[in-house]
Amino acid sequence: MTYLAEKPTAPTTLSTLTKFKKTGEKFSCLTCYDASFAHLMELAKIDAILIGDSLGMVVQGQASTLPVAVADMVYHTANVARANQHALILTDLPFMSYATIHDAIVSSRAVMQAGANVVKIEGGSELAPIVEILAKNGVPTCVHLGLTPQSVNVFGGYKVQGKTDEQADRLIKDCEILVNAGASIILLECVPASLATIVTQQFAVPVIGIGAGAGTDGQVLVMHDMLGVHTRKPARFVKDFLKDDGNTTGDILGAFVNYHRSVKDGSFPSVEHSF
Ligand code: KIV
Repeated sequence: MTYLAEKPTAPTTLSTLTKFKKTGEKFSCLTCYDASFAHLMELAKIDAILIGDSLGMVVQGQASTLPVAVADMVYHTANVARANQHALILTDLPFMSYATIHDAIVSSRAVMQAGANVVKIEGGSELAPIVEILAKNGVPTCVHLGLTPQSVNVFGGYKVQGKTDEQADRLIKDCEILVNAGASIILLECVPASLATIVTQQFAVPVIGIGAGAGTDGQVLVMHDMLGVHTRKPARFVKDFLKDDGNTTGDILGAFVNYHRSVKDGSFPSVEHSF
């Protein structure tokens, strides 16, 4: 296991991701919620970590992400940030914690002081004033579009988004407004691969995909999903990197290394993991 002896490379910043985009190098991102896994992700050189509000489901056992509190995000962000000096750290602002500009500022301050480098918020063009004020205050934003789990009650379930021409045009327009407002990263969840590729080519900011095909600049998966730890049927875009043949050591570190390598060499996601 030679990778255990290797020193982690320099910290990943937004500029690193932008450089990756310019040079065509793909980047890896995983969700993480605690120090032990954050340490293994540092050894595996995972480029970015998302402290996702998915922790409500995979850590707390909630039915959705809606019950998650800012205090939960602060606690898990601090745990991760202590153990990983390599990855860019993105933290979700949870449901209704950025419904007003005041709330967005207070919530962002809390997670940034806990160790986040970027805050992630879900929605479309209506977020532009929040993105703008956060950017002015030194808080980079990742805007999450497509399937936005905090709106599960509006969607009526976890369904692929952007399938009609009208929905696709709306999503592209939303991205344009948000990038013009100062968004630093776009994250697309569960959208057709063709739409995600258009967004990736059209905008200069890095685009991360989950269930969005191979055309995005980076990929993210929920850590529990890619380790085969499921409490419900896994989505089509999920691959088990622990069991996969590419995991040469058969352990969790090997699964992270396998995922990182598969994203970098473009072998993940394949067509079977895309819409
Ligand atoms: O909360 C989360 O883990 C997320 C990912 C699914 C992108 O938002």
